[in-house]
Amino acid sequence: MAEPTIAQRSPFPFEVTTGKSYWWCACGRSKNQPFCDGSHKGSEFSPIQYDATETKTVFFCGCKHSGGKPFCDGTHSKLP
Ligand code: FES
Ligand code: FES
Repeated sequence: MAEPTIAQRSPFPFEVTTGKSYWWCACGRSKNQPFCDGSHKGSEFSPIQYDATETKTVFFCGCKHSGGKPFCDGTHSKLP
């Protein structure tokens, strides 16, 4: 399993809207973080879909190493 690229070592706060779908970048290469822009093509990564069931601010993982993808679980603070 290839290692994802660390986009940033902190989460991306983002207000999601009820009923909308979001595609979180898992590979870390997107130029439109924290979302997929297609840059994963040719890698073994693919985006993770998140369907918002309420309008609220969530914290998408920026380091791409979270154990609770697509959200930050604090793993970024333990990365070497
Ligand atoms: Fe990273 Fe698509 S650009 S998963
Ligand atoms: Fe990835 Fe926090 S930003 S776990």
